[in-house]
Amino acid sequence: MIDCCIFDLDGVIVDTAKYHYLAWKRLATSLGFDFTEHDNERLKGVSRVESLKIILSIGKTELAPAAFELALKNKNDWYLDYINKIGAEEILPGVSEFLAGVRARGIKTTLGSASKNARLILERIGLVDQFDAIVDGNSVTNAKPDPEVFLTAARAVNVAPERCVVFEDAAAGVEAALNAHMKCVGIGSADVLGKAHILMPGFAGVDIDTVLKRLP
Ligand code: BG6
Ligand code: MG
Repeated sequence: MIDCCIFDLDGVIVDTAKYHYLAWKRLATSLGFDFTEHDNERLKGVSRVESLKIILSIGKTELAPAAFELALKNKNDWYLDYINKIGAEEILPGVSEFLAGVRARGIKTTLGSASKNARLILERIGLVDQFDAIVDGNSVTNAKPDPEVFLTAARAVNVAPERCVVFEDAAAGVEAALNAHMKCVGIGSADVLGKAHILMPGFAGVDIDTVLKRLP
């Protein structure tokens, strides 16, 4: 019995990875090294601070604390330049219909994202009202694969973890869902998300009944 669907944001609701990539690439260029799309895969689901640490290790570069903070600020400012221009056209295929179907069945919907920009993004794409609770990078201290973000999202709507299913596109997020003792649907391929209970490429043409029937 599932009473709550918890959605990751980046890569599940909306494809923001390309904007994160452009902003991180600009930062890497400003620091004098290259950052490829292949490297960008390592940042999915990873917090802003951890992402910067990974990027600096790729560029074999170290930053003093003040420069590190400035790099985080610059990257986010550049990222927000893109985000402030997006709208509902950026919602991934089938997501709006899927959310509406979940809610019509009386199942709660919550957001469980590492992003500190999650609420702004939901506002920009017009989906804030489709969530009973929004838990993001501002509300938790421990990043995925720690289960905190998903446990907080479940608690916000008074649903036991065993009655939640998480939709995730990142390996760290799948781990977090399993660590929370929740069901997990991986959005993507088995090479990255093999530990999820079931996999699907996205939400196009999929409804919640189909997902619930497939879950173990
Ligand atoms: C995750 C993204 O959802 O949020 C990561 O997958 C990102 O790539 C992280 O680094 C933090 O996002 P933000 O918006 O707080 O920098
Ligand atoms: Mg994601």
